[in-house]
Amino acid sequence: MSIAIIGGSGLDHLEGLKSSQPISVETPFGEHSTGVYQCNLNGVDILFLPRHGDAHQCPPHGINYRANLWLLKSLGVTKIIACNVVGGISEFMSPRSLIVPHQIIDYTWGREHTFFDGKNSDTLFISKHVGHIDFTHPYSKVLRQCLLSFLDQHDIPHLNFGTYGCTQGPRLETAAEVQRLDRDGCDIVGMTAMPEAALAAELEMDYVALSLVVNWAPGVAEEELAFDAIMQIVNEEMTLFRKFLPNLVEFIDIDH
Ligand code: HPA
Repeated sequence: MSIAIIGGSGLDHLEGLKSSQPISVETPFGEHSTGVYQCNLNGVDILFLPRHGDAHQCPPHGINYRANLWLLKSLGVTKIIACNVVGGISEFMSPRSLIVPHQIIDYTWGREHTFFDGKNSDTLFISKHVGHIDFTHPYSKVLRQCLLSFLDQHDIPHLNFGTYGCTQGPRLETAAEVQRLDRDGCDIVGMTAMPEAALAAELEMDYVALSLVVNWAPGVAEEELAFDAIMQIVNEEMTLFRKFLPNLVEFIDIDH
């Protein structure tokens, strides 16, 4: 049983690496992103998977989510903390806010989004092959509560709710698309929560997300999107992630 951290934009590496080479295996679902690094954070052995690859070579729509999730499951992972960056839609979700989303709306298309395709059932690590998982609550209740307690206890400012609209990318959205997401009830928009969250659920791994708002979604603010400003936020705030992740993994009770 172990914890994995999936790193998104700005979090392509972690400290505490136990070896410079990632664990990389052939999966029944094709090639994964770079692979998985073994790290020791505050005495806790964890696995780190940079979702976009070491050199950020996998765009959101091109990531082999099935291979990544299968790899984690095959290495004994039971809990996943998925980090990602997002655009803010609703008024509370301003740049630099840290969000622990509670819901997802999936707008992606054409991505391999399920293990239950009738082809690979003998390669899955689960006993029952029910095609229709309960996805009412896409994030693990217990792990989410644990993450929220940690952030509260460490006085790390965050918002404990947020509906994540997952778009296809790699382009950003039009203003009209963001208005539609807003009408649908999305608070934030990103490109990687799906099918990652659903695949984790299919393989019975607990999954939570930590989403960092790095810009107002297109059309929400008067100003034009400025990539330099976005990158500055990514870099500055990821330093904060790196500081608290070791304490977070120590805080998580792996047996519950
Ligand atoms: N849209 C989609 N994905 C994103 C955004 C955005 O505005 N910002 C960061 N990831």
